Amino acid sequence: MTETQFVARALSTDRVAEGKCSWQSPSNIALVKYWGKTEPQIPTNPSISFTLKNCFTKTTLHYRRKAKTDETFNFEVIFEGHPKPGFHPKIEAFFERILPYQGFLKEFEFKIHTENSFPHSSGIASSASGMSALALCLMSLEKELDPSISDSYFKEKASFLARLGSGSASRSIEGPLVVWGEHKEIESSSDLYGVTYPFDVHEVFKGYQDTILLVDKGVKQVSSTVGHGLMKGHPFSEARFRQANDHLSQLIPILKNGNLDAFIEIVEKEALSLHAMMMTSSPYFMLMRPNTLEIIERIWSYRRETGSKLCFTLDAGANVHLLYPKREKESVEAFIEKDLAHFCQNNHYISDHTGEGAKELM
Ligand code: PMV
Repeated sequence: MTETQFVARALSTDRVAEGKCSWQSPSNIALVKYWGKTEPQIPTNPSISFTLKNCFTKTTLHYRRKAKTDETFNFEVIFEGHPKPGFHPKIEAFFERILPYQGFLKEFEFKIHTENSFPHSSGIASSASGMSALALCLMSLEKELDPSISDSYFKEKASFLARLGSGSASRSIEGPLVVWGEHKEIESSSDLYGVTYPFDVHEVFKGYQDTILLVDKGVKQVSSTVGHGLMKGHPFSEARFRQANDHLSQLIPILKNGNLDAFIEIVEKEALSLHAMMMTSSPYFMLMRPNTLEIIERIWSYRRETGSKLCFTLDAGANVHLLYPKREKESVEAFIEKDLAHFCQNNHYISDHTGEGAKELM
C-alpha cells in the first residue's frame, strides 16, 4: 500500500444530508517503543503494542452537510459534556493533515462529543484512543458516502488517518497485538498504518494484565512531539533504531513459545532505553519521578523473591505499567495493594488487560 491508495475518490456528498456515528477506541501500551519520526509522521523504527480494554475513548460525530461549502473546517468539540475549545487547534491541524485523503471534510459541519473511561489528567495519554476514535468516526462518514469500501480498507485507512493525528493511535484500531512500522521479518508491516501481529501467539499472552500505576498525574514537562524531534541528530539514534528492530525480531519466537523471562528482558530494556534517549538528548530531560524508581526496585525484589513474571514498562511519563500473565492476577494485585499503591498519587491505579480493539457503538 502507498499513500495514494488512501486518497478518496471525489465523492458526491448529495446522498448524505446529516447523521451521526459513534466509536469506542482503546489505548495501547507499546512493548517495543516508537520514539523518533520523520515527516509525515513516519516512524524511525517499528513498534509493537498490546491493545488495552478498559482505557478507551468514546466519540460520537454528528455531521450535517453545509448549505454552501466554504474554505473552513466547521466543528465544535464537547469533552465530557462541556465545550472544549482547547482541543480545537489539534483537531484543526488533524483535519488539515487528512484533507487530501478525505476531501469532503469542508463540506460538512461537525459536532464531536468525546469522553474517556480513564480520569482526565491521569497522566494516561488520550491521544492514541482519542485520535483513533475520531478517525474511525470519519471513516464511518466516508463509508456513508461510499458504501462500496471494504472492511479491510476501512480499518487500514482508519489506522492511516489516526497515525496522522498521533503516531501511536495507528495501533489502537485492532488488537490484541499490533505492529506499526516496517520490519523486515513482518511482511505485512507498514510505516503508514498498524497491522494485526500476523504470527502465532502463546496462550500465556491471552488476557495479559496491565495495571497502570498513576505516579504523577500532572502535565508532562516535555511533550512526546518534542521528544520525537530530539531523536534527530541524537548521538545514539542509529543504535537505538537498530536495537528496536532487533528487539522486535527477538520477540517473534518469544511471543510464540511464551518464554516470559526473555519477554521481560526485552520489555524492560525497551522502557529503559526509551527513557535513556530522553536523558541523553539535547536538551536532556527526565520524565521518571523518584516513585517510578521506587516501584521498579520493588518489582525487581518481588520477582527475585517470588519467581513471579511481573515486569514493567513506561510510556513518555512517570506512570508505570505493570505487565503480568492472567494466572498471577490475584497475587500481583495483593502485592500492588500492599507495596505499590502508596507510591501512586492518591493511591490511584487502573486495572486493565489486553483487548480486541475498537468497536462501533450503535
Ligand atoms: O504517539 P505519540 O506521538 O504520543 O508517541 C508515543 C510514544 C510512546 O508512547 C513513548 C511510545 C509508543 O510507541 O507508544
